[in-house]
Amino acid sequence: MVKQRVIETNEGIQGELDVEIFNEFAKVMRDKGWNNVDSFIAEGITKGTVLEIGPGPGLIGLEWLKKTQNAGLTALEISNTMIRIAKRNAEDYGFSDKVRYVNGNALEMPFEDGSFDGIFSNGSIHEWEKPVKVLNEIYRTLKPGGIFCISDMRRDVNPLIVKMIYASTKPKEIRPGFMSSLHAAYTVNEMTELLRNTEFQNFKVEKEFFGLKVTGKK
Ligand SMILES: C[S@@+](CC[C@H](N)C(=O)[O-])C[C@H]1O[C@@H](n2cnc3c(N)ncnc32)[C@H](O)[C@@H]1O
Repeated sequence: MVKQRVIETNEGIQGELDVEIFNEFAKVMRDKGWNNVDSFIAEGITKGTVLEIGPGPGLIGLEWLKKTQNAGLTALEISNTMIRIAKRNAEDYGFSDKVRYVNGNALEMPFEDGSFDGIFSNGSIHEWEKPVKVLNEIYRTLKPGGIFCISDMRRDVNPLIVKMIYASTKPKEIRPGFMSSLHAAYTVNEMTELLRNTEFQNFKVEKEFFGLKVTGKK
């Protein structure tokens, strides 16, 4: 029996210390190659004008830029503290001219209709106050034929896998946040239901080893 979902935050990750710890964690994940960048590329988000939602410290978008060509990235982030770290990371990658960080809430995206060829997001949807609203914003801001891909944890993961991943998650200080994110994450069935309530006709929700992946086309 899967426990009830528990909301983690409706404001993103704002605290100075939390952000630095998250940045350290994101670097560990990047170095292990656990960042879903290959998945976004495999789904066809490879070029053009692309949006990332909830980049946090930005490493996923920066790794995506490293693996793609003829691409420009806009990254929409609710936390200014995260944007500061993301800009620092973009400078370290030498990609400051390829990425634009925008401070804002994905519930009301500050972009025109049909702005993007592709939209991706990792580990953020469980924090969105109204996910259906954001998914409809994704629909609105995609060009016709545009693709989106969202990856996240899933709450219905095998408890033994949770124990194993919890014990190996570094730095240690991120572990309580790891658990609260897991408790806020959706199951595959819940995510499918969310998508059914959006304007997307063409979507797929897939179960992965530790998480889930949602893909769709406008
Ligand atoms: C758990 S972090 C994941 C960061 C990054 N995508 C990664 O996987 O390393 C989630 C990020 O989404 C941002 N976020 C949460 N709700 C948001 C919203 N409504 N609009 C924009 N960003 C949001 C948070 O501030 C945080 O930086």
